[in-house]
Amino acid sequence: MKIGIVLGTRPEIIKMAPVIRVLEHRKIGYFIIHSNQHYSANMDAVFFQELQLPAPQYNLGIGSADHGNQTGRMLVQIEKILLQEHPDVVLAQGDTNTVLSGILAAAKQNIPTGHVEAGLRSYDRRMPEEKNRVICDVLSDYLFAPTPVQENILWGEGIPKERIFVVGNTIVDAVYHHKDLAQNTSKILTTLNLHSKQFVLVTAHRSLNVDSKPSLEQLTQLLQAIPSITGLPVVYPIHPRTKANLEKFHLRMKGVTLTEPLGYLDFLALEQHAHLIVTDSGGIQEEACILQVPCITIRENTERPETITSGANRLVGLSVEKFKQAVAHHSKQKTEWTNPFGDGHTAERIVEVILSKQ
Ligand code: UD1
Ligand code: UDP
Repeated sequence: MKIGIVLGTRPEIIKMAPVIRVLEHRKIGYFIIHSNQHYSANMDAVFFQELQLPAPQYNLGIGSADHGNQTGRMLVQIEKILLQEHPDVVLAQGDTNTVLSGILAAAKQNIPTGHVEAGLRSYDRRMPEEKNRVICDVLSDYLFAPTPVQENILWGEGIPKERIFVVGNTIVDAVYHHKDLAQNTSKILTTLNLHSKQFVLVTAHRSLNVDSKPSLEQLTQLLQAIPSITGLPVVYPIHPRTKANLEKFHLRMKGVTLTEPLGYLDFLALEQHAHLIVTDSGGIQEEACILQVPCITIRENTERPETITSGANRLVGLSVEKFKQAVAHHSKQKTEWTNPFGDGHTAERIVEVILSKQ
């Protein structure tokens, strides 16, 4: 048995780590192809180190580029490796260009593919991720849906039932594995001079929010208003895409503490100590929900509706008015909801499904 794992960005490294850990533990053969879509040390190497992952056998060094260029070069290189390695199955997690290339390269060679985090839909085709999700789900042989919500979506799209497996989300495995270590070892509160439950944690990097000057301006205005709305300081480990665009459009964020992207332990510690999380990230909406921290999502839609129905999350787009309403709503309700994303054993279930099909 040989499993090919394709990954390339920060969230894929974090969410695939539990699967890699199970494969190591059970001595199942595997190799990692890292596209290097993310390459800065604080978007890449820090996670291999903190999550104690083995170095990838293949590092493609793709880096940043326009969609077609980036996806195409990955496809060419991944195909070559798969022809050499002949894996029994290829696994990829999420919705990035790396995932699209990995699943497409394998599917073209009739290698069975497993899509981890299948069936998520924002129904917003302007998002590059939405296009990648749809294509990966259509092509994949094993669709690992986090919850019955995605199972229903996939049924509705005509995906045969026998391909769909509701297994939870590996982010729960990752959070449960690291949250105490993060609490016990991270010094980030002291470093940033923050006090537990007395700050707002922000992240934002979605193309729709940060790639045009008007939307980035609106985002900047919203984030600058948070201290006066909440009475709390704001800390924002800024994604390189957003940082580059702030520079490009000559915009500044005043009254917001910007830091470089943080390692997983520091970031998990900040999440656990935050009074409120404000984000457009997919994984961070899930983590807030798992960690029982109220979340406000600065998007018009989400492919994680479980976070909304559970009461953990509110959608506000970039509207200051809606943001104020969401803050008021969260302050009235108890932060008690059930984590819909599983019990922390998702990676084991994924590996079991693959073994049972060989
Ligand atoms: C990608 C994914 C997105 C995911 C995000 C996770 C796609 C289409 N997008 O978006 O779904 O939510 O990763 O963070 O696959 N940069 C660096 N260093 C890095 C990586 C990027 O400086 O290590 C900068 C470059 O200026 C680059 C920009 O960030 O042009 C965007 O990087 P890219 O990988 O294209 O997209 P992300 O916004 O990171
Ligand atoms: N994360 C991190 N450091 C940071 C910001 C995020 O370790 O400075 C982690 C976070 O805990 C989550 C993942 O990165 O697990 C989310 O990645 P991102 O928001 O880049 O991507 P998305 O989930 O939106 O695809």
